Amino acid sequence: MPAGTRTMGPREAVAALVSPEGRRDPYPLYEVIRAHGGLVAVKPGLMVAVGYAECDEALRETRLRVQDGESYDQIYPAWRAHSSLRAYTDSMLYRNPPDHTRMRRLVSHGFAPRRVEALRGPIERVTDRLLDRMAELGADGPVDFIAEFASRLPIAVISELLGVPERDQAWFRDVAARITIALEGITNVDRLAVADTAMDELAAYFDDLVARRRAAPADDVASALVQAHDTEGERLSRDELIGNMMLMLTAGFETTSFLLGHALLIALRTPAHAARLRGEPGFATGYVEETLRFEPPVQATSRWAGSDVPLAGQLVPAGTKLVIMLAAGNRDPRRFAHPDRFDPDRPPFVPLSLGAGGHFCLGAPLSRMEARIALPRLLRRFPDMAVAGEPVRRDTWIGRGLDLFPVAVG
Ligand code: HEM
Repeated sequence: MPAGTRTMGPREAVAALVSPEGRRDPYPLYEVIRAHGGLVAVKPGLMVAVGYAECDEALRETRLRVQDGESYDQIYPAWRAHSSLRAYTDSMLYRNPPDHTRMRRLVSHGFAPRRVEALRGPIERVTDRLLDRMAELGADGPVDFIAEFASRLPIAVISELLGVPERDQAWFRDVAARITIALEGITNVDRLAVADTAMDELAAYFDDLVARRRAAPADDVASALVQAHDTEGERLSRDELIGNMMLMLTAGFETTSFLLGHALLIALRTPAHAARLRGEPGFATGYVEETLRFEPPVQATSRWAGSDVPLAGQLVPAGTKLVIMLAAGNRDPRRFAHPDRFDPDRPPFVPLSLGAGGHFCLGAPLSRMEARIALPRLLRRFPDMAVAGEPVRRDTWIGRGLDLFPVAVG
């Protein structure tokens, strides 16, 4: 444990997570908190889960609620003035049952195993096209893996899923990056104007896409959602339709990009892993799970207790905010031997990185498939690939990943 953290209490450690040092390396701070237990009361109204079992139980506990419009009303009554926040609260990630159950059932049609499996061919094709481009760009010097590959693959795949044509994908990526600011919630209200403008542009685009799919349905998620919207009975309102389409775009974009960035960085720093990714069939599966465990792109999520909720032998009092530190749970020594060691040969396990329970990541099979396909192909295509400069990390705590990663393709 670094010297500075030795004397800290849990309250200081939680506050330090958003300091520059904490954002750079939050893992020692999770250990400081864990020294006080797997579920820790930090101050009145705030608890944190840092143990694997405690995080898992909290994610599955239906009496703990996700932040929704009602909770925004209490902390930031002006939230409705922001179209980006309105769109998120119209999506399933910000809804509780029964709304969440209804929306998730409708939207999950779009993620049926058959539909996800049908994306295998497109993922392979997009991967190879992006590798051709990297080869061209890399002939003259280092290439930024994030800009040229990691951020492009997820957008291409989500576009395929939603039925967004290739010519619109550059714009789609830009709009997604701007709206993602709103995922930070109301921590920085000034920056929300950027997200709001982007959301207005995206809503107009989706309205148009929806009109085209209504006129001529295709085999994509947009068409499936339009059908759900138009079917009497289990309806999805126009705002919910747009909110959920926006969620798919922003929830699956940078998260997958961050996963790819970490996975490649670790492989290039440990040539034995790169060699096995290149040559050993099936190795990518455990490797991707271990990357998710070791460097989760989403470090934490949160819930609210609407009433007193018993959890892991304690009580979460009504009105308490519970921060579920997924990344801390993934390094719980009670669950994982040598948790700070990157070991792709661990016995099968489920990382907390994609959540659990009712809000378990809908895009989990898709992002896993993207990484499992892309990594071996990438390393086979460029067997001499090497790190060509210091990677630049996103300066945030919850979203953890690389913004810039120069590589030489060899
Ligand atoms: C490595 C990549 C990804 C990571 C780390 C990730 C992480 C997560 C996590 C932690 C949650 C649960 C949040 C909570 O319980 O509070 C979640 C939910 C969600 N994710 Fe992902 N995600 C990834 C990729 C994707 C992709 C590719 C898509 C879609 C194309 C997607 C769509 C969603 C949706 C729609 C939800 C909300 C589910 C619900 O509220 O019922 N995600 N994701």
